[in-house]
Amino acid sequence: VTVPEPGGVPGIDVTTPNMARIYDCWLGGKDNFPADREVGEKMAARWPGLPRMARDNRAFVVAAVARAAGIGGIAQFADLGAGLPAHPAVHEAARSVIPSARVAYVDNDPVVVLHARALLAKGEGLAAVSADLTDPDAVLSDPCLHRVIDLGRPVGVILGAVLHFYAAEKAQAIVAGYAERVAPGSWVIASVAHMADQRVADSLGQIYTPAGTFHNHSADDLARILRGAGRSPGRPGRTLYLARMGGLKILPPGIQCARRWIAGIAEALPGTGGYMLTAVAEKR
Ligand SMILES: C[S@@+](CC[C@H](N)C(=O)[O-])C[C@H]1O[C@@H](n2cnc3c(N)ncnc32)[C@H](O)[C@@H]1O
Repeated sequence: VTVPEPGGVPGIDVTTPNMARIYDCWLGGKDNFPADREVGEKMAARWPGLPRMARDNRAFVVAAVARAAGIGGIAQFADLGAGLPAHPAVHEAARSVIPSARVAYVDNDPVVVLHARALLAKGEGLAAVSADLTDPDAVLSDPCLHRVIDLGRPVGVILGAVLHFYAAEKAQAIVAGYAERVAPGSWVIASVAHMADQRVADSLGQIYTPAGTFHNHSADDLARILRGAGRSPGRPGRTLYLARMGGLKILPPGIQCARRWIAGIAEALPGTGGYMLTAVAEKR
C-alpha cells in the first residue's frame, strides 16, 4: 500500500508498523501512524517503562556525543541506525561543543532517510546515508558518508539502541568491523535495551515484530560485543569494565544504565526492572 492517508510519504507503507516510528511514539514524536502506535502502545502496556527507556536512551546518546566532542575532541560522527529526527539531534549535541562538527546519519529505512535528507542534509557538514549498518565495509565506503567523514581522523561511531537486534556474536562482528577501520582516538557509543526478567523480554520481543528478534543482552554480553572476541573479564554481576579489550577500551564509568552513565556513577546494575545498558569505548 502506498500513501494510504494524509501525511504519508509517496512510496512509504504506513500501514505496516515500523521500528523507527514505534520508537518515535515512545519519544512522544509526531512522525508515526496508527499501525506504529498500536504496536508501541501494546508493548508499553506490557512494560510501561519503555517510553522512559527511549527518553533515557536519547539522553545518553546526546550526553555521550557531547563528551566525545568535549573530552575526546571528536568532530565527526557516524550515527548508525539514526532513527527519525529527535531533539536535540546528534549534530546539535556535537555542535554545542564543536560548532563545525560533522554528522553522517545512516539508516536502512527509507522513511528515516527521507526525513534525514529533508530536515538535516540541507545544512553544511551533514549527510543522510541509506545503508545497512551490519555491513561496515559498505557504510564506510559510501560516497555520501565520505562527504562529511574523514576516516583518517577519529570518528564517533554511534550504535544507539540497535545492537539488541542482533545476537551477541553478530553484534560483536559489527562493532569489530567499524573498530578496525576507524582511526585511533575514535569512540564507539553503544546502548542496548535490557530487561532483568527474561520473560518480559520474550513477551516484548513477540509484540515487537518489525524488529525481527530482540536480544536481551546482559552487561557481560555488551562488554564482549565492545571488546571483540574473548572471555568476559568480570565476575558475573560485575558491571565495571575498564581493562583494555581488543583495541577498544571501555571508558569510565564502564557499562552502566543510561542515567548513571550520564551522571558518571559506577555502580552495580539494578537486578530488577528494565533499562538501557550503555557504554562508550575508545580505540587506542
Ligand atoms: C530504536 S531506533 C534507534 C534510533 C537512534 N539510534 C537512537 O538511539 O535514538 C533503531 C533505528 O535503527 C534502524 N536500523 C535497524 N536495523 C538497521 C540496519 N541493519 N541498518 C541501518 N539501520 C537500521 C531502524 O530503521 C531505526 O531507525
